[in-house]
Amino acid sequence: MQKEISKEGSIGVFDSGIGGVTVLREIIKILPNENYIYYSDSKNNPYGDKTKQEIIKRCEEVFSYLLEKNCKAIVIACNTASAIAVNTLREKYKDIPIIAIEPAYKMVHDYAYDGETLVMATKGTIESERFNLLYNKYNNHKTKLIECVGLADRIEEGNEKKIKEYLEKNLKEYKGKVENVVLGCTHYPLIQEEIGQVLGENVRFFNGANRLAVHLKEVLLEKDLISKSNEKGKIDFCDSSEKKEKEERFYKFLKGEK
Ligand code: DGL
Repeated sequence: MQKEISKEGSIGVFDSGIGGVTVLREIIKILPNENYIYYSDSKNNPYGDKTKQEIIKRCEEVFSYLLEKNCKAIVIACNTASAIAVNTLREKYKDIPIIAIEPAYKMVHDYAYDGETLVMATKGTIESERFNLLYNKYNNHKTKLIECVGLADRIEEGNEKKIKEYLEKNLKEYKGKVENVVLGCTHYPLIQEEIGQVLGENVRFFNGANRLAVHLKEVLLEKDLISKSNEKGKIDFCDSSEKKEKEERFYKFLKGEK
């Protein structure tokens, strides 16, 4: 049963794992005095290859947890879950503001529409109806979409050697051929440098996290849900696999460390 939403509540942020930290990092720059609960569903990672039903079920369980903790808004910091489940979730949880990330393809249209573009995302995102609507709307006819099956799992695992091998194998053919790269999965900004090393140092990266943070603030303002506190908020971390090292990595990445 959902409780009343109050401006003293926390903001829930969730992803299938560590990736959503790249979104939270941008949010706290804009909303530093809020309290946050970050939920990492790493026990069920990756979401990218799951069916729609499986993803909706996972999201519902995470939502129950966050609503139980009195969250006043929920940020889906996972492109896959957003692409596949956000409409169903908004339908079901009508009272809570739900803010969803999406691959920054419109940003390419706005700032660099004439460039050869690579959109990297999970299979679930690339094949989703929601992403295809966005893609068809802003298609510059110079875009390649790649389903990076297995990449988010490697980032989640944190094995640098495996990540580099994956990027070499799957991105090498685009070296020197693309100008814009859309990081369409929240895990990928964590390896932006490594992606740049394979594709060429001059590529421009597009990531929707900052835009989402601005939108979240607009929604909270509109609903009069901004915290009144003048102090820096606290950030709680919760992970479904309950592994201590997940928490350590989370706080490290949150500070922008590698
Ligand atoms: N970080 C997620 C995304 O933005 C999902 C990665 C996965 O679990 O496959 O799509």
